[in-house]
Amino acid sequence: MLRTHTCGALRMEHVGQDVTLSGWVARVRDKGGMIWIDLRDRYGITQLMLEEGKGNKEAIEIARTLGREYVLKVQGKVIERVAKNPKMSTGDIEVKVAAIQVFNPSKVPPFLIEDDTDGGDELRMRYRYLDLRRDIVRQNLVLRHQVAKVTRAYLDSHQFIEVETPVLIKSTPEGARDFVVPSRMNPGQFYALPQSPQTFKQLLMVSGFDRYYQIVKCFRDEDLRADRQPEFTQIDCEMSFVEQEDVLNMFEGLVRQLFKEVKGFDLPEVPRMLYADAMKYYGCDKPDTRFGMRFVELTDLVQGKNFQVFDAAEIIVGINATGCAGYTRKEIDELTDFVKRPQIGAKGLVWVRYAADGTLKSSVDKFYTEEDLKSIAARFEAKPGDLMLVLAGDVKSTRPQLNELRLELGSRLGLRPKDKFSALWVIDFPLLEWGEEEKRWFAMHHPFTSPKDVEAFMHLPFERLGEINANAYDMVINGVEVGGGSVRIYDRSLQNKMFELLGFTPEEAKAQFGFLLDAFEFGAPPHAGLAFGFDRLCSIFGGADSIRDFIAFPKNNSGRDVMIDSPSEINPKQMDELYIATKPLPQKN
Ligand code: AMO
Repeated sequence: MLRTHTCGALRMEHVGQDVTLSGWVARVRDKGGMIWIDLRDRYGITQLMLEEGKGNKEAIEIARTLGREYVLKVQGKVIERVAKNPKMSTGDIEVKVAAIQVFNPSKVPPFLIEDDTDGGDELRMRYRYLDLRRDIVRQNLVLRHQVAKVTRAYLDSHQFIEVETPVLIKSTPEGARDFVVPSRMNPGQFYALPQSPQTFKQLLMVSGFDRYYQIVKCFRDEDLRADRQPEFTQIDCEMSFVEQEDVLNMFEGLVRQLFKEVKGFDLPEVPRMLYADAMKYYGCDKPDTRFGMRFVELTDLVQGKNFQVFDAAEIIVGINATGCAGYTRKEIDELTDFVKRPQIGAKGLVWVRYAADGTLKSSVDKFYTEEDLKSIAARFEAKPGDLMLVLAGDVKSTRPQLNELRLELGSRLGLRPKDKFSALWVIDFPLLEWGEEEKRWFAMHHPFTSPKDVEAFMHLPFERLGEINANAYDMVINGVEVGGGSVRIYDRSLQNKMFELLGFTPEEAKAQFGFLLDAFEFGAPPHAGLAFGFDRLCSIFGGADSIRDFIAFPKNNSGRDVMIDSPSEINPKQMDELYIATKPLPQKN
């Protein structure tokens, strides 16, 4: 027997028992006559103890050769510890070792396998299998497992069936680039990896499955960020004979169940916000509603006072940083520098300070009287002690800039704690958005999303199509888009019209989506669905910014797996078999 207990199991009640443990050496302390070893496995750490001169010569000799991460089996007796460690679950006992067997020695690990490691990101990713020995990282994957388990149980209890869909498919238009796979048997042709199983789940509805889900890998060749990986996982769902309301209720139920079982938190009813309001009051379609600081518009109030910047602006909009009147000049300058950073791009920041003594002062005192400032403060519903921060410019860039400032202030003021959760449905997204470069309409969600007003969709002139809203919705938690979906088009002529508006010729539409259009001629039910970003949900539950921590073997920001060294070149024979050749790389200068 290689073990009678795990390294996290032994307690006072085991004192006196002979046990066998197996695990990795976390630490050895050799104090001359006494040697202590911390033995670690997935379940915990148990302290082992060897005392010289107790007829255990061989074990002592082996113990003196041990290093970090050696894999051992030890036999011994559980004894009560003299110096107990209340921080460890096994801290009341230790094992007095009689025999040690080394299964495998280990090279010195490149970083400390402890919660507080000295390993940088790149090093930890290169030796990810060692990184995963760290309790803190393993816990993230345990959490991921729990989220999957609760999800399956919830969906199963609501008659959803998990169906696997293919991974070698044809391109799905979700807006990102496809990863492609050459086909040996069909030279010159390529599969695409699914950006999501979108068309397949719709086909399953045509097949009558009624309720489908899948915890599924999706692949998107897009620029990476903390919350984006080239391969990520969705909880992908679809339902038949439902309207938007049914979908929102079903999946709000799932999220609530997850919060309850994974975090022990009762998530209140999830409020809904129109996309237009999200943009107007928060400057983005995924507002962090853990805190207020909604945008206040001043355009009508402050123009015409000879302040050029405001007079020339399309919009003048600000936020009230409540309680921040005490900000020093330096702190305000920092915020100004923040909004002027090239990635944000504001030209400057105007402030109005409502001092605790009730006096009003601003960076634009030259143009505005005390009375003017009073009316500005009234618009903000500001009180003594507040600091109003104002940006001006065109609508398209000013609101997103103020969004950045709002989030920055929220963080500085500690209003975005990781253990506070605020969920939100954003609904009524526009159906289409205009691509200025391409001079054509793009589907904001995807081309299978139904318009709210079919009549308008069929008849509005081309240039006004941006006015039409979609039956599309996103779930946002703490400012992160954790899921999104829509009510689908299930009528062939409507779907055809959509492809036409998106610039597809009938031939192109047929070549790319003929299978779906054909299916719509065989009795497609009304259907709707959504997909959650599984990794993002896990990172929110785990209180982390990056989804990488919740993926066993993630890619780095250049899309590389530095452990297996991928992507990499393939050998010329494979290339020949696939009938492909690479072009010379462009010269770097
Ligand atoms: P969407 O493209 O909005 O919808 O994706 C659904 C959710 O998946 C997550 N997500 C990502 N997570 C990590 N890395 C990425 N690169 C990444 N991209 C997206 C987000 C997002 O909300 N087929 C539709 C769903 C539907 O209409 O039913 C779809 O894929 O959390």
